[in-house]
Amino acid sequence: MPTVSIPALGLQLQAEADENLLKVLRRHRVPIGWSCRRGECGSCKCVLERGEVDLRGYQPGALPASQREQGIILACSSRIVGDVQLGLVDTDDYIEHPLRSLACRVLWLRELAPEIFALRLRIVADLAQGSEDASAGGPFLFSAGQYAHLRARDARGEWIGRDFSMAGTPVEAEYDGELEFHIRRTPAGSFSGLLGATILEGTELHLEGPMGRAYFRPRHEGPVYAVSAGTGLGPMLSVVQTALDNGKTDPVVLYAGFRNVSEVYGLERMEQMARRHPNFQAHVVVEFDAPGGLRGGRVGDALFADVKDFQDAKAYLAGSPAMVEAVSAELLARGLPMRDVHADAFYAPAPEAFPAGQAGLARG
Ligand SMILES: Cc1cc2nc3c(=O)[nH]c(=O)nc-3n(C[C@H](O)[C@H](O)[C@H](O)COP(=O)(O)OP(=O)(O)OC[C@H]3O[C@@H](n4cnc5c(N)ncnc54)[C@H](O)[C@@H]3O)c2cc1C
Ligand code: FES
Repeated sequence: MPTVSIPALGLQLQAEADENLLKVLRRHRVPIGWSCRRGECGSCKCVLERGEVDLRGYQPGALPASQREQGIILACSSRIVGDVQLGLVDTDDYIEHPLRSLACRVLWLRELAPEIFALRLRIVADLAQGSEDASAGGPFLFSAGQYAHLRARDARGEWIGRDFSMAGTPVEAEYDGELEFHIRRTPAGSFSGLLGATILEGTELHLEGPMGRAYFRPRHEGPVYAVSAGTGLGPMLSVVQTALDNGKTDPVVLYAGFRNVSEVYGLERMEQMARRHPNFQAHVVVEFDAPGGLRGGRVGDALFADVKDFQDAKAYLAGSPAMVEAVSAELLARGLPMRDVHADAFYAPAPEAFPAGQAGLARG
């Protein structure tokens, strides 16, 4: 039986031959990031210090050849072929909240901009504990920037699940048992298309989470740059609000990107934060049709036009894979270490997550 050793954590893990490395690490609750699980996002990077793995089927952007030459691998795209020794890329401020399985009810659904909705949920039962008491397993704890898997019934009564990032703060969830999500609705979307159809005020949804490692690191000292595309603004508002609520005095700067001006939302909340916190700045950037008063172009270009020096900074990114991948790559090229770039790209789900009738559709 092959062994996976991680000297930094004093661990020796047993694995099956040909087993997926990320599966082994997650089974043993090793503090490693992951998101897409198919070699696209780069969240599951680790260092192969000794031994060999069968690494294949990943996107070159997720693991550039220069990093591969330094021994970096993607755990999700690696199969175990013998004993290996690993180093972890980012173990600072590792936080692991218990994974919960909860029933929630929709408190309200509000349109923030055309086809962009805020979905506010109240936790009503703990499914894992089999209890009607929402607090049976304790309050729902997460770190700003994390996401959860939401499931709802479609018109045929089938459960459909997708990942969504918490847009409210961890404090609201812990004390009020309420969670907010910002969701772009596409009428043909298997889950988002249910908003306003089967997902209405009072509807029961199921939630599993929290997940994700692109969360706010409270011990970091230095500037914070939060960059979002579209509804990636939800988790980035949670990150900057939490940083400011924690009394951070370094610059906290939000770059909120949108494709079109009609999609812009959240201005009032950003203005309120700027009024209360002199160290907070928000830049709203509209790619295609910015009117006078709003900045035009791509959000990453705006960030790199304004900021030349990322010394001691941390960057948090959420939204479309194209934005997250391009901005992450540029930050690394400008010298920001990988451990200071915390990114969750909103990848489309794997084909098996689609209802049977939709199998075979092209990925958008
Ligand atoms: C970590 C994470 C966090 C996220 N957070 C958010 C968030 O906060 N807010 C938010 O709005 N979104 C978020 N997302 C994206 C979200 O999970 C969904 O992918 C998105 O909402 C699309 O779901 P849908 O129901 O609208 O559409 P889907 O039905 O899932 O369709 C999505 C795309 O897949 C294509 N497709 C349809 N059928 C198939 C098929 N059979 N095979 C392959 N492709 C197909 C469609 O053409 C479409 O372009 C997040 C994603 C991840 C991974
Ligand atoms: S989880 Fe491995 S690359 Fe995304």
